[in-house]
Amino acid sequence: MDVGTVLLLCWVTLIPGILSDPSDEACMTHLSKSLQDPNNQLHNWKEENFANPCNDSTTNLRGAICNNGRIFKLSLNNLSLRGTISPFLSNCTNLQALDLSSNFLTGPIPADLQSLVNLAVLNLSSNRLEGVIPPQLTMCAYLNIIDLHDNLFTGPIPQQLGLLVRLSAFDVSNNRLSGPIPASLSNRSGNLPRFNASSFLGNKDLYGYPLPPLRNRGLSLLAIVGIGLGSGLASLVLSFTGVCIWLKITDRKMALEEGKITHLMPDY
Ligand SMILES: *[C@@H]1O[C@H](CO)[C@@H](O)[C@H](O)[C@H]1NC(C)=O
Ligand SMILES: *[C@@H]1O[C@H](CO)[C@@H](O)[C@H](O)[C@H]1NC(C)=O
Ligand SMILES: *[C@@H]1O[C@H](CO)[C@@H](O)[C@H](O)[C@H]1NC(C)=O
Ligand SMILES: *[C@@H]1O[C@H](CO)[C@@H](O)[C@H](O)[C@H]1NC(C)=O
Ligand SMILES: *[C@@H]1O[C@H](CO)[C@@H](O)[C@H](O)[C@H]1NC(C)=O
Ligand SMILES: *[C@@H]1O[C@H](CO)[C@@H](O)[C@H](O)[C@H]1NC(C)=O
Repeated sequence: MDVGTVLLLCWVTLIPGILSDPSDEACMTHLSKSLQDPNNQLHNWKEENFANPCNDSTTNLRGAICNNGRIFKLSLNNLSLRGTISPFLSNCTNLQALDLSSNFLTGPIPADLQSLVNLAVLNLSSNRLEGVIPPQLTMCAYLNIIDLHDNLFTGPIPQQLGLLVRLSAFDVSNNRLSGPIPASLSNRSGNLPRFNASSFLGNKDLYGYPLPPLRNRGLSLLAIVGIGLGSGLASLVLSFTGVCIWLKITDRKMALEEGKITHLMPDY
């Protein structure tokens, strides 16, 4: 290997750190537009810094962490952010971890995120996100954490998510999901489910193992309350009627007695 080759190799390895990445630029530009930042937490998220977000390999953009000249982590949790998740986030193709948890984000999870093929961590918990959980997330084969708890998601849990073999944490508790829990996510291995009830609790219309049979318990509880109230009311009506009849009889007796008395009374 001559000096020229070594220099060329160096140049090739350094190039990602020197040149800007158009995908990351589009990603950051659009994300900063879709997010609202009322507390000015992202004060250095400025247009001029997006052109080359990883120029130092330690970027100065708050919450963005670079690796090999590309953004590989976005940690923007608990910053009182509002707004929506831009579909252009999918342009940050080297992203491995996306944490937007504990904000006030609204809108859906863009299905475009399926092109984040390196994504391992998706934490969108504690927001006001809505819509369905996109089944396309199955395309992110490296996902090992999906945390969507405390949002407003509706619809079923996509069965395909069970195909994510690396998934080690999955939490969709406290949403508005409905339908059966896919067996692929709850299937027992030995005696334990893949994910236990705590991953699914707090969704009124979600059912099936590993959740306890809430619906039946709800019904029978209602039945018990109904029977209790019904019989209580019935006995109340019965005793009231009883008292009324008794009063009526006593009344008539008294009237009779009174009649007798008046009858026996001598007229003056
Ligand atoms: C990285 O970009 C920032 C903002 O554009 C600039 O101030 C800084 O000098 C750049 N660093 C390098 C090493 O180019
Ligand atoms: C979130 O941020 C607020 C201040 O902005 C802080 O008081 C609170 O402890 C933070 N919560 C977590 C879980 O970090
Ligand atoms: C960037 O993301 C948008 C929205 O998902 C997509 O239409 C576009 O093709 C992406 N661009 C590149 C270069 O990947
Ligand atoms: C997601 O983020 C929340 C709060 O920011 C944290 O409490 C939770 O542990 C995270 N989820 C996972 C699976 O790490
Ligand atoms: C449940 O797990 C067993 C092995 O533990 C497997 O053979 C079976 O196909 C799984 N069923 C579903 C629905 O995933
Ligand atoms: C359910 O699973 C979670 C995380 O895997 C664990 O922290 C928790 O202790 C489990 N709960 C029960 C009742 O097994």
